[in-house]
Amino acid sequence: MCGIVGVIGREQAAPLLLDALRRLEYRGYDSAGIATLLDGGIARRRAEGKLGNLAAVLEAEPLPGTTGVGHTRWATHGAPTERNAHPHATARVAVVHNGIIENHAELRSELEAKGARFETETDTETFVRLLDSLLAEGMEPIPAFAAALKRVHGAFALGAVFAGHPRLLLGARQGAPLAVGFGEGEMFLGSDALALAPLTRRIAYLEEGDWVALTDDAARFFDAADTPVERPVVQTAVSGAVVGKGNYRHFMEKELHEHPAVLGDTLRQYLDPKTLAVRLPRLPFDPATVSRLTMTACGSAFLAAHVGRYWIEKLARIPVDADVASELRYRDPPLAEGGAAILVSQSGETADTMAALKLLKEGGQKILSIVNVPESTMARASDAALLTVAGPEIGVASTKAFTAQLAVLACLAVGFGRARGQLDATDEARLTHALLQVPSHAAEILEKDAQIRALAAEVAKARDVLFLGRGALYPIALEGALKLKEISYIHAEGYAAGEMKHGPIALIDKEVPVIALCPSGPLFEKTASNLQEAAARGGRVMAFTDAEGAAPLRRFAEHVIELPTVGAFSAPILHAIPVQLLAYHVAVLKGTDVDQPRNLAKSVTVE
Ligand code: F6R
Repeated sequence: MCGIVGVIGREQAAPLLLDALRRLEYRGYDSAGIATLLDGGIARRRAEGKLGNLAAVLEAEPLPGTTGVGHTRWATHGAPTERNAHPHATARVAVVHNGIIENHAELRSELEAKGARFETETDTETFVRLLDSLLAEGMEPIPAFAAALKRVHGAFALGAVFAGHPRLLLGARQGAPLAVGFGEGEMFLGSDALALAPLTRRIAYLEEGDWVALTDDAARFFDAADTPVERPVVQTAVSGAVVGKGNYRHFMEKELHEHPAVLGDTLRQYLDPKTLAVRLPRLPFDPATVSRLTMTACGSAFLAAHVGRYWIEKLARIPVDADVASELRYRDPPLAEGGAAILVSQSGETADTMAALKLLKEGGQKILSIVNVPESTMARASDAALLTVAGPEIGVASTKAFTAQLAVLACLAVGFGRARGQLDATDEARLTHALLQVPSHAAEILEKDAQIRALAAEVAKARDVLFLGRGALYPIALEGALKLKEISYIHAEGYAAGEMKHGPIALIDKEVPVIALCPSGPLFEKTASNLQEAAARGGRVMAFTDAEGAAPLRRFAEHVIELPTVGAFSAPILHAIPVQLLAYHVAVLKGTDVDQPRNLAKSVTVE
């Protein structure tokens, strides 16, 4: 995925590029680099590992020059070494690249046959060598760039600067986002508006297939056929304020503690606390008549969609298909006439979800997305977007954005239920009242921090962990397992509690914590009996429940953490918080890099 940035500035480019890369580090942090133009040539500084390493290199060897490009990498082709770090450069051109050039092997053979000597295994270098060969033939940078773009396939965004052209910066977009920022006598290029927002609020987005030539104070846009096009300049709402950690040790900890505020802000968008009615904006389909819904997303966002499916089917009686976007995009499912799709994404840039969007749109489905970034590609490509009001989420593991997605989906389910006559005004008031209690219950759960930390001390010793839940808490069990895996590197699985005896129970022994989401309610007895089966085989049962569920579970469970008593409807939102907090504390005890876990990136813009 990677983050790219470029500037034609008035001041030194390197500090500004480094600062912008800090805001893009969520896209990848395997290595980073900056190239600037000076005295007719190109100078580069690159470093393996986190951005701090590049900052140290720049401190030791500052990089002058007012025009340059920067990159933070999530490795796809070639190990995350300094040699493979971007910018990739020859004496004539330096390039930063986000995405994958799919025909790189074929281009490499062709260029090698003509005498090009490659220094790295990266796909990016093929574009650089291709561009370099055209420049060597005497082509000017702009036509050479346009010609080189015609030869590469894949999904990518590119930025390039050219030796001897100190006030020229070129960019291209094909399947990965790219924004242009307009300053006063300065121009910027960046993977997103967040990277550019402190530099300028005036942003234009490249459309699919576009490329752009930036000079001192102008941007000339071209489409894939090289026809000049206009792209509107918008005033971005994204705040460039550098998001700090405050007194928290990690962004993830801070973001976990933002749950009550974020849930309150998000619910207030879609509920009227006075009338206890759901207040939805205009939707691209009529929930009263829609024949079928397809819900899709990736990772945690998919798990939110999975909970949404339980809610929408139960409260609105709309048939729902839910599948991860990476499968849906190739499954070629028959799509219902008069159907619609709901896509969920924090970033609004996830490549698989975007590909699913395209497939669903081509299949005649109306697209409603739930996104946290209003100006994201997904929000712009959807027929309508509902925003989660989570604010920037910096920790790679999703926390507050996930519960905010659940909050929006819960409101949608109630709104759909009303529209279809499945719920009456009294039902609506009861359900919205339950949702309005969620922020204060979330705050109560965060006060259980010490108890959850004690539980984490046990879980941190384990090699394998099982999470169990039933009904709409099953996806939350999956979320607990996903979060634990990704930040503590402990192997964890989530299961529907009723599935235990069909296989996973074979894993149970005294070393395996079984973490259950088991509040009182209609499914309590069933889940409790699955837990007893685990305890009878030596399994160490650890349960999140409520006051009523606590007493029976204490008879056999090693740890019982009592959460506020809430109905089945809002339970998934509230149970997500302790499992995320548990993963956080386990990761801290294990000493992992909580905010930037290994091998991951916040926004997965490659397939
Ligand atoms: C897990 C996590 C990921 C994301 C997934 C989708 O903690 O953060 O699984 O949920 O990569 O990302 P978005 O929501 O940006 O589409």
